[in-house]
Amino acid sequence: MTHPTIIQGGMGAGVSGWRLARSVALEGQLGVVSGTAIASIVVRVLQSGDPEGHIARAVTAFPLRAMAERVYAKYYKAGGVAEGEPFKRQTMHTLKPSQELMELTVFASFAEVYLAKEGHDGLVGMNLLEKIVLPNLPTIYGALLADVDYIIMGAGIPLEIPGSIDKLSQHEACQLRVHVTGAEKGEEHFIHFDPKSVNPDAVAPLKRPKFLAIISSNVLALALLKRANGYIDGFVVEAPTAGGHNAPPRGKLELNDRGEPIYGEKDEVDLPKLAELGRPFWLAGSHATPEKVRLAIEHGAAGIQAGTIFALCEESGFTPEIRSRIIRALLDNKLDVFTDPLASPTGFPFKVALLQGTLSHGPSYEARPRCCDLGFLRTAYKKADGKVDYRCPSEPVDQYLKKGGEESATEGRKCLCNSLVANIGLPQHQTSGYTEQPLITIGDDVLNMKHLFQNEEKRIHSADVIHLLLSEVPGAALAHA
Ligand SMILES: Cc1cc2nc3c(=O)[nH]c(=O)nc-3n(C[C@H](O)[C@H](O)[C@H](O)COP(=O)(O)O)c2cc1C
Repeated sequence: MTHPTIIQGGMGAGVSGWRLARSVALEGQLGVVSGTAIASIVVRVLQSGDPEGHIARAVTAFPLRAMAERVYAKYYKAGGVAEGEPFKRQTMHTLKPSQELMELTVFASFAEVYLAKEGHDGLVGMNLLEKIVLPNLPTIYGALLADVDYIIMGAGIPLEIPGSIDKLSQHEACQLRVHVTGAEKGEEHFIHFDPKSVNPDAVAPLKRPKFLAIISSNVLALALLKRANGYIDGFVVEAPTAGGHNAPPRGKLELNDRGEPIYGEKDEVDLPKLAELGRPFWLAGSHATPEKVRLAIEHGAAGIQAGTIFALCEESGFTPEIRSRIIRALLDNKLDVFTDPLASPTGFPFKVALLQGTLSHGPSYEARPRCCDLGFLRTAYKKADGKVDYRCPSEPVDQYLKKGGEESATEGRKCLCNSLVANIGLPQHQTSGYTEQPLITIGDDVLNMKHLFQNEEKRIHSADVIHLLLSEVPGAALAHA
């Protein structure tokens, strides 16, 4: 298998959905779906009446038909929920998830990869965040059942993932360590997943996809190669200009006049040193030009990973309205991108487009009644009675304080779970009457993309983006499974 030159970056939640990933894979490059919150997305698509029957097609392709039918029957709503009617939710992930949640997660992940791979032999990967540890194993297993080609993971140090992929591909039980705040010294907690619990008759091994770790320093790359529990096939080197979450600056956190983290020389990756590690790598963060692709390859990279440019394509999961608002603001010189050190409950800086009517805008943020009902970014903590519970600094402040959280941790926090799902047109209509609002993440590179939209339609397609990006690399490999 040849590695791709272009990786279309995984973009949660659902911005890099199966349509975008498929369109990139069809062009011979690596299309990546996001595994983040995939169960919630599929649950809402089903409650929107499964328009065009895509999920129904995945049900018929799923090797465990009865299980997929159970999921479909539980959430499918012919004609979709009524205007303003809340979506039914699935339960949140915990250290002891229900069988039903495992089945839903495995099927949802399968469906997303299956649809991205349907009808061609191009490459499809899945992106996951290490920090969202609880759903990761069943999500990866579902992707393996759909023959995923790459698993790509960032937002943490994925030491235990490559070995888990090995085990899952053999249908073997595995576990991931879970950090529990307040745990005693030496006390360990794990999330377990046994593929046999959903697929008892499985025998034939599944393909082991390649595993790429997203890194932002040489130290991290080295640590992964030394300490990971399995093989790392390569690295995505992500600079702090990239959309989504950014690694915090190395050393003491200092903010500029606008309140953004300041990055310096220490945050730059030494590429010749990285190349010495002997694994392919791709450069991410403001690399979406033909010249940058050519230079990346000249500097020893296998290619680049781009997100922002693909998020603006017609095939992305952003609603057409959100895409056109970003593009209009860009063309009117009114777009601003802010690296928000507080917005994300993870504590990582999060890149935000400053746009009215989204949670980046003070009044919209203030108007949102806090509520935590998806819970992907909750973390585990130990209660006084010794039991484990979960909390998120974006949940209602009084509840967070009751759970022993610090008030300072709640300041400026935003509910990424709800707003990111709103970005793809599946906002929750809360019973309070409030409809969840978007919060758009996009990379700094967007500010260099005005020229792409000087056409009459003010639109771009992923195939054109790929042709453009490869235009200075005539011999670029077409990647196929
Ligand atoms: C809308 C959006 C959402 C993103 N979400 C994720 C994500 O869920 N996980 C991840 O590893 N990277 C995420 N990224 C980062 C991309 O995968 C990619 O590395 C990055 O966009 C590359 O830099 P660029 O934005 O300058 O193209 C996101 C980027 C964007 C623009």
